[in-house]
Amino acid sequence: MLTIRREEDRDRVGVFRINELAFGRPGEAKLVDALRKGDQPTISLVAEQDSQVVGHIFFSPVSIESATKTSTAIGLAPMAVLPDRQRQGIGSQLVRAGLVECQRLGQYVVVVLGHPKFYPKFGFVPASRFGLRCEYAVPDDVFMVAELTPGALAVRPGLVKYGPEFQQL
Ligand SMILES: CC(C)(COP(=O)(O)OP(=O)(O)OC[C@H]1O[C@@H](n2cnc3c(N)ncnc32)[C@H](O)[C@@H]1OP(=O)(O)O)[C@@H](O)C(=O)NCCC(=O)NCCS
Repeated sequence: MLTIRREEDRDRVGVFRINELAFGRPGEAKLVDALRKGDQPTISLVAEQDSQVVGHIFFSPVSIESATKTSTAIGLAPMAVLPDRQRQGIGSQLVRAGLVECQRLGQYVVVVLGHPKFYPKFGFVPASRFGLRCEYAVPDDVFMVAELTPGALAVRPGLVKYGPEFQQL
């Protein structure tokens, strides 16, 4: 039985461990801690199985800068599932629930830097299609965007910048 729910304070240690084990290094786990401490609102969900947190997904604001204006959107990063629970659909459930939560909170543009085979099934497409560029030099197909309401991206081309906390990765 798997439950997806909002992260609570008691999950902190488990969430750190999931990120550290899934990525094989502490960088992403520390990034989550740094983003939580920042002054921007974040979204954090966990997957719980048999009273143990086994998966985690995190969202934080990004800016979209063009020559004339700066707007904000939300970035999915990081997400992780315990290595021995991967490829059982947990990550997919976290993404679906995460996007619903984004929508509920009025976020309609979500970017992600990730596996080009994993994210398209949830509506992500290469961000370049909407004139969005990533501040990092990455291959075109790994920087993706999902529009959670039709037309949300129509007038928002520009350079996507992540929070300063990401510099530590
Ligand atoms: C990516 C991740 C969160 C997916 O979670 P999950 O519970 O395994 O995902 P699901 O079971 O819902 O879906 C599995 C699919 O994810 C994709 N996938 C998972 N790991 C992948 C990897 N390392 N490379 C490419 N695709 C991957 C595959 O499409 C896979 O489908 P398949 O089993 O048919 O090949 C998990 O593999 C993970 O924690 N990886 C390490 C950390 C990481 O890379 N995070 C994402 C950063 S963008």
